[in-house]
Amino acid sequence: MALPSNKIVLKVFGRHLWPYKWLSFLVLAAIIAGEISHLIAPIYYKRFFDTLAGPNAVSENIIASLIGILVMVLLFHGIGWFMHGWAIPVSNYLHSKVMADLERTGFSYILSHSSSFFGNNFTGSLVRKIRRLSRAYEDLADGVEFRFLPILVTVVGSILVISYRSTLIAGVTAGMLGLFILINYVVAVWKLKYDEKRATLDSEVTGVLADAITNNVNVRLFTSKKHEQGIFFAITEQLRKIQTLSWNLGELNQTIQFGIMIVIEFVVMFIAIKLWSQGQLTIGDFALLQGYLVALFANIRQLGRMIRDTYEAFADAKEMVEILEEPHGVTDSKSAQELEVPHGEIVFDNVNFSYRKTRHVFKNFDLEIKPKEKVALVGPSGSGKTTIVQLLLRFHNIQRGQIRIDDQVIAHVTQDSLRKNIALVPQDPILFHRSLMENMRYGKRDATDEEVIEAAKLAHCDVFVNKLPEGYDTFVGERGIKLSGGERQRIAIARAILKNAPILILDEATSSLDSHSEALIQDALENLMKNKTTIVIAHRLSTILKMDRIMVMDSGQVVDSGTHKKLVAKEGIYKKLWEIQSEGFIA
Ligand SMILES: Nc1ncnc2c1ncn2[C@@H]1O[C@H](COP(=O)(O)OP(=O)(O)OP(=O)(O)O)[C@@H](O)[C@H]1O
Ligand SMILES: [Mg+2]
Repeated sequence: MALPSNKIVLKVFGRHLWPYKWLSFLVLAAIIAGEISHLIAPIYYKRFFDTLAGPNAVSENIIASLIGILVMVLLFHGIGWFMHGWAIPVSNYLHSKVMADLERTGFSYILSHSSSFFGNNFTGSLVRKIRRLSRAYEDLADGVEFRFLPILVTVVGSILVISYRSTLIAGVTAGMLGLFILINYVVAVWKLKYDEKRATLDSEVTGVLADAITNNVNVRLFTSKKHEQGIFFAITEQLRKIQTLSWNLGELNQTIQFGIMIVIEFVVMFIAIKLWSQGQLTIGDFALLQGYLVALFANIRQLGRMIRDTYEAFADAKEMVEILEEPHGVTDSKSAQELEVPHGEIVFDNVNFSYRKTRHVFKNFDLEIKPKEKVALVGPSGSGKTTIVQLLLRFHNIQRGQIRIDDQVIAHVTQDSLRKNIALVPQDPILFHRSLMENMRYGKRDATDEEVIEAAKLAHCDVFVNKLPEGYDTFVGERGIKLSGGERQRIAIARAILKNAPILILDEATSSLDSHSEALIQDALENLMKNKTTIVIAHRLSTILKMDRIMVMDSGQVVDSGTHKKLVAKEGIYKKLWEIQSEGFIA
């Protein structure tokens, strides 16, 4: 997908600036007023020198008028100084607000993206893109307030004032400044594609970094540090090259600028001497011209940098804006109702689903689970068991057919109400880097400490929590890394107990537990299943013997279903699985 245009980036910034429009207007007005005041000062300097060079001898009068002129200079510089002085804190306040809003928008929008989005984007890059968007805004806002406006006011203002004294000088200055701006612009646009490439590479570097760090165990396990270094060195080298090129192009532009400035200075003063010799300019006019040339150069020296920063800011912003512009994969329909689950009947009706165009998981898939029924899904790895769960939770949209809960199509109810009614203990639970207590409370955020501890006991978490010096206040590390797989599963079970939703799904919920712990938890789980429609996915067949019905899946199809007794009695996948597993025990 092509990156969004500058216009779209501006729209996004505009949307966030809009709530503060009066404040921004005030800041801009103050900055313009300040710049204009500074531009008026040289006019008084012209008078100052004209008075000095006038025919009158030194007298009280002259001194008084010189001091009068100086006071005016002071006054206008003072106004400029004052305007600047209060505009800056206001502008700081304004932009910090907008930047925080931008980060919040990015955060909320990203969290509403679908599972496929997260499958295709690196965590590290996403984090970086959100931060970059607000920084890009900061650069642009700074550029407008402290570069663009001063340049605009100084260029237009000085040329206007100079034209009163000499249209020739004004014309020549305007022409050469035009050339200056044009060259800057052309170089900057030419450089743009390198800037965009640099931003993309920068994100890739972050992605590679994050992926390697996440996989640090694999790196050690497979002694692949050299290999990973190779990958990282290659990509950082690409970034380095493009960075250097980008800097060099910027410097080239600066060098050309200096050259043009020297020429402007010479040409303007040369013409001024001519005009003075013809009596058309006064000594004061030299002061005026010098005043404006100094101001012009000081400001337009920033032009190259401004154009460069502007484009870089756009390039930086685009990556995040692209994400903000990408429609959410799974959305609530406009007329979405709240899901009501009085019974808990689940129906998959002629469902087609593929993760990508080429990866068909389900074709004409049917499944019916009666209210309060306890169903087990078994089948080889990759047969689509977890996918069923994901579809029921509407983590992905299906391509054809319907999934219904109590006769309500899940695509027509709100995602929040759907997910509130389903408690899932996932195959590989991930935890927040927060305390154990907070992680468990995630199942019911208004639960009291007592309720959480009660659930923890039922899930047999207390056994390991009580051994930790900080107990329930222990932090669990990123993704829950400081806990064992079985401990994480028990926390996920405690969450499900707290959530107490009418539909319960256990996706290999006890696969990481030893047989003893599993047997202990089994009671809690059976309690939890009471009065709930339950789907249990398990490889360990011993855990599913008590289910009402067992469904055997293979390659996205339910190939057999029935009670354990019925299934072991006939030839098929189930019997084979059972024989393999029970052999181990018999032997
Ligand atoms: N995010 C994804 N993107 C693309 N393909 C996927 C994705 N998740 C799963 N698949 C594919 O879909 C198929 C079904 O996967 P699923 O996770 O449902 O299997 P499973 O039956 O739960 O297996 P297991 O017993 O190993 O957990 C597999 O071929 C898998 O490679
Ligand atoms: Mg699975």
